[in-house]
Amino acid sequence: MEETTSTNDLAMHGGSHGDLFAAERQSAGRGQRGNKWYSGEGLNLTLSLVVEPQGLEATSQFYISQVAALTLVDLLAEYGVEARIKWTNDIYIGDRKIAGILIENALSGSAVKRSVVGIGLNVNQKIFDPLVPNPTSMALESGSEFDRKAVMERLHAIFFALFDKNMAADRGTIDERYQNLLYRKDEWHTYRLADGALIEGRIEGVEPSGALILSLRDGSRSSYQFKEIEFVIDKRGDR
Ligand code: BTN
Repeated sequence: MEETTSTNDLAMHGGSHGDLFAAERQSAGRGQRGNKWYSGEGLNLTLSLVVEPQGLEATSQFYISQVAALTLVDLLAEYGVEARIKWTNDIYIGDRKIAGILIENALSGSAVKRSVVGIGLNVNQKIFDPLVPNPTSMALESGSEFDRKAVMERLHAIFFALFDKNMAADRGTIDERYQNLLYRKDEWHTYRLADGALIEGRIEGVEPSGALILSLRDGSRSSYQFKEIEFVIDKRGDR
């Protein structure tokens, strides 16, 4: 559709498993950590998928994040762009963000009743607001422009093929691929804790709960929930 508040709102209250809501403009597009999501009109994809898993325990809801992140990695690979997953589920090319994912779940007892997978993918945008940190797009990475409808159709097909195929049978393969594709895995970098303190750590992997596991310089290991830690990434040049 042309305009809505947030496609995540539409997908939370309408449609059923396998549906996709996309909009050219969102008046209240949401990002993670309470941020707004900005997207150049007519240039990118802002969409939400409706997922109604059969028998997914709330404790396993990180599976949905993993499938969403792998969908974007696989999609971008089809277009010749090699991406990594910045925990929990931002999609990066080098040190630049090409896509963000915002997942909102409705639970019924201890199971996930509906999950809304909101995705903002920068496709043809080449100039960004200087306030957006480290952005990139498929066009900037490849030098070509893309048919957004075709990209959207592939995204939809890849997500539901991965989700439905692996949900009952093989969540382990999804987890293994996710871990191997982590941005900055096995490298020493600086991280900022919630109280502002800077620490040096090396990503070892992600727990089934979604917590990030870091090795620290003193030889210990620590795990962090989403709001407890942030990556420190140099901002290099405006786009
Ligand atoms: C992030 O990286 O902060 C997550 C961004 C998610 C943006 C998408 S755009 C489509 C969907 N609707 C929203 O309001 N947000 C998500």
